[in-house]
Order: sequence, then structure tokens, then C-alpha cells
Amino acid sequence: MSQRRRRYLTTPIYYASGEPHLGHAYTTILADVLARFDRQNGADVFFLTGTDEHGQKIQEEAARRGVEPIELCDEMAERFDAAWRTLYISHDRFIRTTEAEHEAVVQAFLQRLWDRGEIYEDTYSGWYCIHEERYWTEKDLGPGQSCPDCGRPTRHVEEKNYFFRMSAYQDALVRHIEANPEWIVPDIRRNEILGFLQKPLTDLSISRPKSRLRWGVTLPFDEDHVSYVWVDALINYLTASGAIHPDRPPEEQGFDDVSESWWPADLHLIGKDILTTHAVYWPTLLMGVGLPLPRQILAHGWWVVGDTKMSKSLGNVVDPLMLREQFGTDAVRWYLMREMPTGSDASYTPERFVARYDELANVLGNLASRVIAMISKYRDGVVPEAPGSGLDEAVSATFSTAREAMERHRVHDALGAAMDLARTANGYVEERQPWTQAKSQDPGPLDETLATLARVLVALCALFQPVAPAKMANLAERLGLAGVPTFEEALTVVTPGLQVRKGDPLFPKVQAT
Ligand code: MSP
Repeated sequence: MSQRRRRYLTTPIYYASGEPHLGHAYTTILADVLARFDRQNGADVFFLTGTDEHGQKIQEEAARRGVEPIELCDEMAERFDAAWRTLYISHDRFIRTTEAEHEAVVQAFLQRLWDRGEIYEDTYSGWYCIHEERYWTEKDLGPGQSCPDCGRPTRHVEEKNYFFRMSAYQDALVRHIEANPEWIVPDIRRNEILGFLQKPLTDLSISRPKSRLRWGVTLPFDEDHVSYVWVDALINYLTASGAIHPDRPPEEQGFDDVSESWWPADLHLIGKDILTTHAVYWPTLLMGVGLPLPRQILAHGWWVVGDTKMSKSLGNVVDPLMLREQFGTDAVRWYLMREMPTGSDASYTPERFVARYDELANVLGNLASRVIAMISKYRDGVVPEAPGSGLDEAVSATFSTAREAMERHRVHDALGAAMDLARTANGYVEERQPWTQAKSQDPGPLDETLATLARVLVALCALFQPVAPAKMANLAERLGLAGVPTFEEALTVVTPGLQVRKGDPLFPKVQAT
């Protein structure tokens, strides 16, 4: 294995019952920006996304459409994968939970729990919410026996279930969270889980009877039951890591040695709505089989529209692909990353979208156009050599701010700093007045202005690359670079002598509809 830093990043796997929307796009783009930043800065990255294809929700949606569940999943998996490609997501693998490889890993995982005495059988009597795929007790229910989470009606069930001894790991989990303050970020989510763990943890029902639900992974020790969809879904992170080899004898399946795989994940990126499953169910299940825990869980906030939740039934779901048709992919990525402070909620409004787009066009786009135009006009398109440089300090300060922010997943801050540098450079143009300098006999001051601005553009190209990969590739080409530089290269690249090329505006004016 190489000595380079290794990073394994994951998004949630999305339910194959609905269309990709702005919320899904946000999580996926956030993961992509972090992955691109890591790759750009020399890490070996494995970036995973995919679709969650089992469970009652999918079975019922397929029935509603009059198709087989697998037909629905095939269609939706393709839709998600295509949407991600359109939005320049650079995932290394798109996993589907209906893949034979994954089903075998789920079975090996459950068998291991069973063999270790971590699972027992009991009768469950209570209320079930299909949408959330979870059980509730009578006292949890909302008005009219509705689900306290989503408000939909629940149904009463009484059935045989298999339970994982989750309660046995409560203390170990609390100790882990306390010993690793950065394990769940941001703090508000860590505290939420610590609060949740103050109450006694119950055991976790990990099966559903086939009499009610056929669409799932059959338990290896009881063929009349399928795995609870969340258990099946969480295991996707392990399947894709390549750690588990279900075809080998039990002692060689990989549960005792993950060193040849990507496991453990460095970062599970999730929305705050699925924190308990990731920060309680998943780590305790891993403890149950004896595997290391993921290194970090980052729970981001929720996109709302105005001040209302985005929902199919309200008809206010924002389609990232439509926005992209009007403004381009890089602009959608920029808006989502710049507008939402990682971890907090944010509100989508068309006005804010346009304001953020204008910033991109008027500050960054404008700087690029005018600098390239001036180098073309005054120096035949060749970046001049000049002894001094007016903005070197600002450039290196921006790199340290951006790097530190990205390492703390504060993408909005890194981008804010990058945009401030572009603003400073526009101010520098006004201050230096290159059009006046051009009239002087002494070429020195104008050379210095243009050389300085070329260096800033090279820096901006590197700084904006993770969020705007296509536009920055284009800018790099216009600057005469061989490709988008890394953060380090951007500070050392030799700019004098580069041959620049004029072109259409990077971010053209768009008529808002
Ligand atoms: N299938 C489960 C996840 C299993 S992971 C082992 C699931 N899928 S989902 O399709 O409902 O989408 C999950 C993720 O989409 C959320 O965690 C969140 O990251 C993202 N979002 C969905 N709606 C969102 C918003 N309105 N705002 C921000 N993110 C949201 O849960």
C-alpha cells in the first residue's frame, strides 16, 4: 500500500423510492468537495455513494407503480448515478444494496453476530411506521396513532423478531464519544447523542418477518425473515471497503483484520435526520462483530424552502438539475456550499441563489476576464516577469485559512476566504490603475501589477477547484497552465512567461426566470 494519506469518505445511500433533490445533492456535493480537496492535496481517496434499495418503502412504491421492486431500483439507481455525474460528483463507487456482493456481506455480518451470541429471538408487539421503517411504543405516538417523527399513520403489529443486544454496548459507546470529542461533529449533534444515551438504550430489532415484507436480505439463520433495512443499509459502508470476504471460512472473512481494506471509513457524511442510526446503531453493531468504528461522523443541517420543510406533498421540492440547466453545475455547487454553514440549517430562496451567482460572476468571473484581457492587450498575452508582488501575503494567508477551514470541513469559510481574495484583487486593480500605468514610459509598475494579478488568478484556480471543477479547469487552460494546480503548486508555479488566452465570460449573465 502507498504511503500517501488515505481517506475513505461516504455519503448516505439514498432511498430508491424518490427522485434526487436539493437535500440529497447537498450531502453528495459536500462529500465531493471534500474528496476533491483531499485528492488535490495528495491523498488517496475512496469516495462512496449509492442507493438504499430494500425495505417496505421500496416494496410499496413498486407496488403503487405496478412494477417489480428490482425494476424500480434499477431505474432509480440509474437516475441517481446520472444526476451525480451531471453535478460532477467524482465518486469512486456507486453501491446498490441489491448487489449480490453486498447481500453476502450483510449475511456474513449477521451470522457473525449470531455466532457471537449477540442476537436473540423475541416477540414484538407495538406500532410500526412504514415510512421511517421503525417501531414505536404506544406512548411515543402522536395524535391518531401517527408517527412522532414524520406524522404519518402507523400500524399495529405483533410479530416474531430477532434483536441485537445493543443495550450491552451503551457504556462502551458513551466512553468512546467522551474520549473522542471530534468523533461526532458539530458539537450540537454530539451533545444530542450524549443526551440520547442518558436514557437506557434498548435492544435493536434487526429483522422483519417475510409474511409482511419480502423485499430484503434473508437472515442466514432463519429464512422466514429479512434483515431490518437500516442494518442492511449501514453495512454498505463495510461492503464497499472490501474488508469482508463472505466466501472464505469464518476465521478468514476479515472481521479480525481490516488492514488490507479501506475500513474504517474516515468520514461518514450524513444529514442530521439520520444521526441516531449512524452514531448509535452502526457503532454498536460494529462493536458487536468486533470491527473498528468509523473515524468521524459529520451531520449537516437541513435545507428548507423559505421557512418550510421541503416535501413532495407540499410540492416545494427544489430540483438541482433544473437550477443547473439555467446556471450551470459549478454555480449550483457554489451556492449550496457557500450558503450553508456546514452543520447549520439554511433556507433556499431563488433571490439568494441569484445573489450568490452574481458574486461568482461579478467578483471572480470579472477578475479573470479583466486580468486576462489586460495581459493580452498590454503584453501580447504573456505574463511579464516582475521583481515585486503586491498580494503575496494575502495569497498565502488565504491558503492557510482555506486549508484549515477545509480540514475542519468548514467549506463555506474556505470559499468565503477565496472570494475575499478575489475581491481584494479587484480592489488592487482599482488602486493600481493599470490603464494609466500602461501610458507610462517605465514598464516596471505595469509588469508588477499584471504579474501580481496572474499569481492571484493561479491561486484562485486552486482554491475554487474543489467546488467549481469544470470552470477552474477552463480557467487553468486560459492561464496557460498544464492543469489546475494543487494548493502547494499554486504558491510556487512560475507565472512569468505563461501564455494566456481570452474567452467567453466564466460565469455569463443569466436572466432569472
Ligand atoms: N436511505 C437512508 C440513508 C441510509 S445510509 C446507510 C436515507 N435516505 S434518504 O434518501 O432519505 O436521504 C438521506 C439524506 O439526504 C439525509 O441524511 C440528508 O443527508 C439528505 N437530505 C434529504 N433531505 C434533505 C434536506 N431537505 N436538506 C438537507 N439534506 C437532506 O435516509
